[in-house]
Amino acid sequence: MFGVVLLSIGLAVAVSYLVLEFPRLHQGWRLWSHRSQLPPGPKTLKTGIRKPWLWFLELNKQYGDVVYLQMGPTPTIILGSAQTAWDLLEKRGAIYSSRPRFIMGGELLSNGMRGLMAPYSNFWRRWRKLLHSGFMQRQSETYRPIQALESNVLMHELLTNPKGYRTHLERYAASVVVTVTYGRRVEDVRTDAVVQMNAEAMERLTSVNIPGKYAVERYPALKYVPTMFAPWKAQVLEQRKKDIQMYTGLMNDVKKRLAAGSLPNCFAKHLLDEQHNLGMTDLESAGSLASFILACVKFGDSFIPKAQAEVDKVAGDDRLPTFDDLASLEYVRAIVSETLRWRPVAVLGGTPHATTADDVYNGMFIPKGSTIIAPLWSIHLNDADFPDPHEFQPERFLEQREYPGNLGHSAFGWGRRICPGLHLGSASVAINIARILWAFDVKPARNAKGEVVDVDIFAFSDGFNSSPLPFECSITPRSERHARVVEREFQEARGELRQYTAAAN
Ligand code: HEM
Repeated sequence: MFGVVLLSIGLAVAVSYLVLEFPRLHQGWRLWSHRSQLPPGPKTLKTGIRKPWLWFLELNKQYGDVVYLQMGPTPTIILGSAQTAWDLLEKRGAIYSSRPRFIMGGELLSNGMRGLMAPYSNFWRRWRKLLHSGFMQRQSETYRPIQALESNVLMHELLTNPKGYRTHLERYAASVVVTVTYGRRVEDVRTDAVVQMNAEAMERLTSVNIPGKYAVERYPALKYVPTMFAPWKAQVLEQRKKDIQMYTGLMNDVKKRLAAGSLPNCFAKHLLDEQHNLGMTDLESAGSLASFILACVKFGDSFIPKAQAEVDKVAGDDRLPTFDDLASLEYVRAIVSETLRWRPVAVLGGTPHATTADDVYNGMFIPKGSTIIAPLWSIHLNDADFPDPHEFQPERFLEQREYPGNLGHSAFGWGRRICPGLHLGSASVAINIARILWAFDVKPARNAKGEVVDVDIFAFSDGFNSSPLPFECSITPRSERHARVVEREFQEARGELRQYTAAAN
């Protein structure tokens, strides 16, 4: 009797193991049978590296524009040029628009309710449609008053506390997203919470099958370990609770104001039925503006005089440039594009894509279920598309060049997953670059002996997004008159911004 029980248990374990392992074995067999057609790639992986994009660039140089890596059971493809990314992620978007499985960020942190990490599914389509209705070009233009007023506040912060420039840029970006979404300008402390929360969520996202980050991504069964034995899991679930509390609070506030007739134009009008966290962040705009400041410090002599001549001519000397001016600021627009190219914040090309069917590209087999990474570090910093890629040269965007798509760069990604915040984000970057150039001289800092403090244009953060590490610089108003204009416009903006604060209380 005992023997039969033991045998049954043994059989049950063996069958469960086979059922669990079958997809893996099947995938292994498929990869093996196509081994001669897989793209080229290294035999061994580097693990635990902090800036995987540097390694990916080496691989692209060594093996070409399509590189194969076997990361655990997952076939992973690293694309190394604008053209291959366009051919696959854009033109073959029907099968290149899913996401890899994100156990930490997607399943545990947000219970599958984060569109950013959602596979190509009905949930994702609904979420994307909603975002599209709120952030397509025409709709994004209705948020410009908020962006312009917040930018007035930012210019004033740069005037009064230039050393804290980085915090001001982050406050600006977080505040715009929150105000645009919920029609309510959250107090600074609350904005800090949003910045902090987004940074943490992004950090977890780094789990994306990039060598060696979280064990649970490699061994999904760990997801079911009780929190008692898994402090890392307790921490993620705690964060999820905080996220939900915060977003529910903001949405309840929106409902109250809608009922009272005091809700200004904002995205929340589109999403009253959608209680879930939209997973929207805008750390990219803040990071891009920090890169612009770094470029001013390092390369300013080569482009600032020309840019200032242009903004002065268009805006005159008694007001900050406006959104309407941007159409006439051709050189400033080239600076914006060069900023987004030179140091792409979404350095890995944003969240990786995944394929939903087998494919063959230039004779190479790309299996269903592959993770596709298109690192912007490889795509934006290659000599073929951008000669002297680490030089900041806005002129590249004034010349005729061959480049897929109509932006001349790939900073917002590709195809069906292209960044839905593209119009909002690029408008934030553009208006603030124009205004900083108009109002301030941005130069290298000087030490106590009066010597120039050099900056390192390669000192960037690790992680999913990459932005400049803190660096010293000097931000001073171009003249007393410029300072007075910044002050005057700030006072006016404060009055107008009241509709996004007082109305809420
Ligand atoms: C300078 C600013 C920005 C840059 C450079 C940027 C860049 C990117 C990139 C590269 C992607 C990945 C695209 C892909 O998978 O192919 C992305 C996705 C995304 N971005 Fe942005 N972004 C910016 C601003 C914003 C803003 C302001 C918002 C919110 C309003 C936003 C919301 C999103 C969302 C929700 C996704 C995921 C889309 C999906 O999975 O379908 N982004 N962004």
